[in-house]
Amino acid sequence: MSIDWKTKFSERSITMKASAIRELLKLVDSPDIISLAGGMPDPKLFPKEVIAEISRNVFLNHGGKALQYGATEGIPSLRETLVNEGISEGIETLTIDNLIVTTASQQGLDLVSKIFINPGDTIIVEAPSYVGGLQAFHAFQANFETVPLDHEGIRTDLLEEKIKKLKSKGVNIKFMYLIPNFQNPAGVTLSLKRREEILEISHKYEVPIIEDDPYGEIRFEGETLPSLVAMDKIGNVIALRTFSKILAPGLRLGWIIAEKSVIQKLVLAKQASDLCSPSSTQYIADEFIREGHMKAYLNLVRKTYKEKKDVMLSALEKYFPKETSWTKPEGGMFVWVTVPEYINTDELFKKAIKEKVAYVVGSAFYPHGEDTHHIRLNFTLPTIEQIDEGVKRLGNLLKKEIRN
Ligand SMILES: Cc1ncc(COP(=O)(O)O)c(C=O)c1O
Repeated sequence: MSIDWKTKFSERSITMKASAIRELLKLVDSPDIISLAGGMPDPKLFPKEVIAEISRNVFLNHGGKALQYGATEGIPSLRETLVNEGISEGIETLTIDNLIVTTASQQGLDLVSKIFINPGDTIIVEAPSYVGGLQAFHAFQANFETVPLDHEGIRTDLLEEKIKKLKSKGVNIKFMYLIPNFQNPAGVTLSLKRREEILEISHKYEVPIIEDDPYGEIRFEGETLPSLVAMDKIGNVIALRTFSKILAPGLRLGWIIAEKSVIQKLVLAKQASDLCSPSSTQYIADEFIREGHMKAYLNLVRKTYKEKKDVMLSALEKYFPKETSWTKPEGGMFVWVTVPEYINTDELFKKAIKEKVAYVVGSAFYPHGEDTHHIRLNFTLPTIEQIDEGVKRLGNLLKKEIRN
């Protein structure tokens, strides 16, 4: 008899949810739809020639190692490079023992969940938060507590209130998950004052911070702010970093910076997951940094994305009804639009597809899909013309929904 797989799946797999974004992206995979959904870098910018040249050198001269298994922690030369980068960023006490290479940040999220979350454990996330983070925590059956964002990032007053309340009930909060720079999906950045407050809260109530920062280097305006991991001097922050937005997501490479005992646990968790991240792409990324290519590439990325962001903001001004509002990001890849509460953006999505334009529904970014009056727009992948036309189509659609 053939197996009824439902009787075999783990409880964990039953609670797993398909990512709303990935499901929706299947729908928009048609060439006549303008997609402002997704969250991908502009592939036209990838430094293909440089990577091709470096790859040739890596495979011909270090092929034995680049095509071999590597250490679970990552190849030593890349870890050294990343430690040096971290120290120059201001993480003064960083050593190689505080750093593990991962198969990009998504694996970081999975490993962190694996070492901290028992079924039913409480974690705190921003509302809204990154859908892939929510998905990773869901898979480990976390209990979600949310704290809203405003234009300065997470509301620290509400965060402290929430933590106090949970602590008074004896809850062991496993961590708070924050995306401080150009947040996905909201595009907002945590202010310096709030960064200081968050660290105080973490120190006072002993709640670890997971600082997920894929976009910090993609700042195209305003002043760079110190990362939480650089500001914290006592090891309460676990920082997830990735090459996906500063080089190329296809390399599937990232790294985690944390206190040594946390790194040791992560190494064990990673061994069971994939033994090691690809050696070949680690050598390539390392050479890319060591040969000094990163600066020029990041400058190109920042310049191009700023142009695209400006086009999107002016299109929003031009075409969106006055009853809507949106964030004005100083970096990253997303604009977060708020529509009147009587418009359900899950429902609107179907109409948008008929008008041949796609966005990501706001509900995807809440642990239980509890908000339905936001839209996430991406400005990095579409062309300038597509941004203008896509925003126009959406604006026209929204105008029809506005009640007088
Ligand atoms: C906030 C955040 N974290 C993590 C990731 C995962 O990225 P990757 O696994 O490519 O490093 C993303 C991707 O968009 C993201 O926006």
